[in-house]
Amino acid sequence: MNATIAYLKNCFEQALIAAFGNDLAGVDPVLVPTSNPQFGDYQSNVSMSLAKRLGKAPRAIAQDLIQKLDLSDICEPLEIAGPGFINIKLKTEYLQSQLAAMQGSSRLGVEAAKNPKRVIVDFSSPNIAKEMHVGHLRSTIIGDAIARVLEFQGQDVLRLNHVGDWGTQFGMLITYLQEVCPEALTTADALDLGDLVAFYKKAKQRFDEDPEFQEKSRQEVVKLQSGNPESHRTWQLLCDQSRREFQVIYDLLDICLTERGESFYNPLLQQVIDDLEQTGLLVEDQGAKCVFLEGFTNREGEPLPLIVQKSDGGYNYATTDLAAIRYRIQTDQAKRMIYVTDAGQANHFAQVFQVARRAGWIPEGVEIIHIPFGLVQGEDGKRLKTRSGDTVRLRDLLDEAIVRSRADLETRLKEEDRHESEEFIAHTSQIVGISAVKYADLSQNRTSNYIFSFDKMLALQGNTAPYMLYAYVRIQGISRKGQIDFDNLGSDLKILLQEETEFALARHLLQLDEMIDQVSQDLMPNRLCQYLFELSQKFNQFYDRCPVLQAETSVRTSRLVLCDLTARTLKLGLSLLGIGVLERM
Ligand code: ARG
Repeated sequence: MNATIAYLKNCFEQALIAAFGNDLAGVDPVLVPTSNPQFGDYQSNVSMSLAKRLGKAPRAIAQDLIQKLDLSDICEPLEIAGPGFINIKLKTEYLQSQLAAMQGSSRLGVEAAKNPKRVIVDFSSPNIAKEMHVGHLRSTIIGDAIARVLEFQGQDVLRLNHVGDWGTQFGMLITYLQEVCPEALTTADALDLGDLVAFYKKAKQRFDEDPEFQEKSRQEVVKLQSGNPESHRTWQLLCDQSRREFQVIYDLLDICLTERGESFYNPLLQQVIDDLEQTGLLVEDQGAKCVFLEGFTNREGEPLPLIVQKSDGGYNYATTDLAAIRYRIQTDQAKRMIYVTDAGQANHFAQVFQVARRAGWIPEGVEIIHIPFGLVQGEDGKRLKTRSGDTVRLRDLLDEAIVRSRADLETRLKEEDRHESEEFIAHTSQIVGISAVKYADLSQNRTSNYIFSFDKMLALQGNTAPYMLYAYVRIQGISRKGQIDFDNLGSDLKILLQEETEFALARHLLQLDEMIDQVSQDLMPNRLCQYLFELSQKFNQFYDRCPVLQAETSVRTSRLVLCDLTARTLKLGLSLLGIGVLERM
């Protein structure tokens, strides 16, 4: 919690007891930032919520309460408004001192978590040999941002890539390899698969049209799962090939992940079944082992089963997730487990979590949560496709973002008659292109679908990455123009807030810690985007109204500090979204 809110909250709690007795200990004073700066900085709605309990009019409660509140050290006199709101306006000197403290803090006043927790973020998680599609792109971008925010707080974050590396697709792939490239089964370098996805498509085609091929594929799955060394080697080869392809995307996006695929849990699956049997939850239904779920019913209103072992003895996606939950709790000691996938998997996770909970595998104090997101749509509002109707390859999509951002940049350079090196152009287009894709995704409420539009995400105006990067560049321009070293503005800096736009900017800057705290709780990166967007707007309003370099010395220094704080906040905030800044663009 923000230090100011914490202080106010404490004072309110004391005053509530002083005014109405010990019964009110622990009552939340409901302090919220005001919607309109005219009402001050914060507002307490506690009088309304206590009216019934105390049998008194809210305004009278507010009166009694402010009698007992002494906030004169940091606030202007409190005011009661409307039906009984208490408006709190922070003193200018207090805001100024808070800004000075922020300026002197390498973490911009954001405190690190006092009790860091082990948190697992399960994200990206594509499937070997299958397409890494835009759904995986969303998971990668959102999961990475969430992990970065938690890491910045100082949480002990484990970023896990739950790669689908153990499915039935391997039977097909191995059988196909035997046909087209048998030497690849034994020698690593014989295999130049090129695009593994295309290879998978051909194998799948053979599988669909040839019953003999089908049968062989099934046998291959059994061979692999029973630990046949030759199958294992081929499987390894295929995984390596896919991994290389995924890595290209991760490098482009600057993503770090620890791979722990489904195969990792293979040795633990039988234990899941045995333990479920022990708890008495396991039921055999038409040869399959399953757990009947609470709250999930079929059309006839009968409870739905979660199958954990198929009638042929095979395990499935759910069994693996159950084993993973246990491993993450027991061995990784996770206290918070976050799963980032599309909303289509909401039922899967709700069901798996329910079974784990009922089996007693989730201890008290351990949080397990699915973070769903919506679909990426083309400009026609349908699922994103290429012009020829194929699924979009992520690499092509990211490359196109870079190519387009380069074209925009080159046009701009021509218009401005600027000459820049190839190195500058390549670097800038890369950062802007990738940032645009990430930001377009993160700035949406993740639960909704969004329309993918290169034109919109690359625009210099609006809630876009280029707009945000440009605000940062603009501030760096001030320092270049005035030959100012922001890191050496001098010690004992006095901040003087005078103009309305300065106050608005200052208040917004001081909300950084509160906002990061919120994102870490509700895991909504779009809040951070919105915060940064408003910050850029407030900065622009300030900069349009208030001369900085031309101002007289004391005002100039103070305004330079506001510029510096804005730049540092933008840089930090963008870095938490996985976006790097540019000094010029
Ligand atoms: N591989 C899965 C997919 O592509 C996502 C895995 C998500 N994580 C998990 N623990 N189930 O849909």
